[in-house]
Formats: sequence, structure tokens, C-alpha cells
Amino acid sequence: PPNVQVNADPFELSRVEVEMLSKSIRDDLVGSEHPVLTKAASYFFDSADGGKKIRPMMVMLLSRALADTVGDAQYDQESLFTKPLKEQRQDLPAAQRRLAEISEMIHTASLFHDDVIDGSDTRRGMASVHMVFGNKMAILAGDYLLARASICLARLRNVEVVETMSTIIEHLVRGEVMQIRGSSSSDGAEENMVYYLKKNFFKTASLMANSCKSAAVLAGCSPELVNASYKYGKHVGMAFQLVDDVLDFEGSISSMGKPALADLNAGLATAPVMFTARQFPELEEMMDRKFRDEGDVERAQQLVFESDGLEQTKHLARLHAEIAMEALLELDDSVYRDSLINLAYKVVSRTK
Ligand code: FPP
Ligand code: MG
Ligand code: MG
Repeated sequence: PPNVQVNADPFELSRVEVEMLSKSIRDDLVGSEHPVLTKAASYFFDSADGGKKIRPMMVMLLSRALADTVGDAQYDQESLFTKPLKEQRQDLPAAQRRLAEISEMIHTASLFHDDVIDGSDTRRGMASVHMVFGNKMAILAGDYLLARASICLARLRNVEVVETMSTIIEHLVRGEVMQIRGSSSSDGAEENMVYYLKKNFFKTASLMANSCKSAAVLAGCSPELVNASYKYGKHVGMAFQLVDDVLDFEGSISSMGKPALADLNAGLATAPVMFTARQFPELEEMMDRKFRDEGDVERAQQLVFESDGLEQTKHLARLHAEIAMEALLELDDSVYRDSLINLAYKVVSRTK
């Protein structure tokens, strides 16, 4: 088995760059010529603790891991004559740092909209944007963030990256619509699980997959490395969402900064419920009526805890994390690669 450095800490290795990220995004958002718009759009970038920043962290660590793998091959041979190699080396992380910011801006925009759609009052331990600025301004601030992200994206001057990152926005919308529409229970349990996993890809994994892919494209990687990067992001994302759905049962406001049981209360059956329904078919009726009858939410919660639905979901998350880790073995070993392997592990063992 490959020798992975277990102490390669993704948080420590990306700390300085992640700390710079919020400030850099803030700087990019000023000048909307309307202070309220600027303020709303920068809302989560103003405080030191604006979320886990897991997406930019992945982009930054992966960029470094790929630089170690690709070596000098990534540098534009043409400009080798016009620019010293050392200068080019400094250019590259700058593009990928922008990519990390774009990824976080798209994510944050989707959260502004999501909290309006879900009527969610808190996010990241703070009042949601719409609670402070109102629904209209929250939607517009999300749109503004997306617009700014698009401009930053175009400035990377890489058509493949523009297409890849734009696909994320399409996928986020598709995932959200799939979640709102839901699947029809008459399709059967298997079909419903497939629908749920597909929805998870669109709403969560695509952002990570395509951000990682873009980092590899910007590094001038071979198709094999681009694929490996995509695969890593995709499966970390799948694992991440499954764990998120477990934490909706196991977490609480104090640990998550958002209320627990949000999914059941919103009428959503996630993996823990679907696995539980295999053991307790009485759940199916509740799923059909979206847990709307008196006592449904409590009963469903009770059954989930009595079954091994949460364990099975965690097991599935671990399988995805393992696929993600394996994909990275395509890269040469480096402390950055190993930190990403550890990150995949941390995603499945997180408690918030
Ligand atoms: C959080 O899910 C929400 C998302 C991952 C995506 C939401 C996407 C949209 C609202 C489509 C619009 C997209 C853009 C780019 C503006 P959740 O509600 O399950 O999780 P939560 O508990 O964190 O709220
Ligand atoms: Mg939500
Ligand atoms: Mg939502």
C-alpha cells in the first residue's frame, strides 16, 4: 500500500491562503456602487469564521499537489522565452487562487438563494442574509456574487475552465429543482435512491468535482490527471452530502449553526430514511405524505435511530471517500496529495 503521511494536515497546509481568500473576495466585491449590495454580498466574507471553506481548500491543496506531479511541464513553453520560469511559477498559483475564490463565491451565492427557498433563519452560526437584508436583497446579492464570479472566471482566459465552472451553476439549479420536485414513490425504492444520489451529485458533488477539474486544467495536466482530479472532487462531494444528511439527524444548532431535522421537517427523505425504510416499511407512507401528518417527523426520527440507517449511510459515505482517495494515487506522492487524502477521511468523520 502507498505510504501516506497521516500528519499532512489539510487545514494547516492551506491556512494562510484560505485566510487571504475572504479578504480577496471582499476587495473584489466593493465598488458595486451600492453600499447595501456590497454589504449583503460580502456578508459571509466579513467575519473570520465564514464557513469551513472546504471547496477553496481543495482547489488550493490540489493545485499544489498537481504542481509537484506535473513539475515544469505545466509551464507554457512559448512564454518560457519571454518570462523567467520563476515568474511563471508564481503566476500559476495566482490563477488557481482566483479559481478557489470563484468556487467559494458560487457556493456562497447558492446559499443566499437556498436560505430564501428553505426559509432558513441561521447559517454558519449567524443570521441568514435574508434575515438581515430581506429576501429581495438576498436574491440580488446572490446574483451579484454569481456575476462577479463570472467576470473573474472570464479573466482566467481559459475556455475549458469557463465551461467547466459554468456547468456547476447549471447543476446547482438542476439539483435544487430535483430536490423540490422529488421523486415519485411509485417508482420504487431503488429508483428513489438513484434519484437521491443523482440529486446529491448536482447539488453538492458537481461543485467540488468541477472545481478540482478546473484546477488540473489550469495546471496544464494530462487528461489522466484531469480525470483523477475530477474523480477526487466528485467522490469527496458525494461523501460530504451523505454525511451532511447524517448530521441532520445527529447534529444540533450548537454544533452545526443550523437547526437539525431540517430535512424531515422540509418533507425530504434522505439516505438515512431510505435505508431505514428497508427495515421499517411503515416509513414509506410517511415519505409519501412528506412527513406532514401529526407526529410523522418524531416517528420517522425514532425509526431512523432504531434502525441502522445512519450506519449504512456512513458506510456509503466511506465507500465514496475511499474512491476519492484512490483517485489521488494517480498523483505523485507529496505532502499536499496526502493532505487531500486526509481531507477525504476528515469529511466522513466530521461532526459539523
Ligand atoms: C444547500 O442545501 C444548497 C445547495 C447545496 C444548493 C442550492 C442551489 C440553489 C438554491 C440553486 C441556485 C443556485 C445558484 C448558483 C444561485 P441544503 O438546503 O440541503 O443544506 P443547508 O442545510 O446547508 O441549507
Ligand atoms: Mg438549506
Ligand atoms: Mg436547500
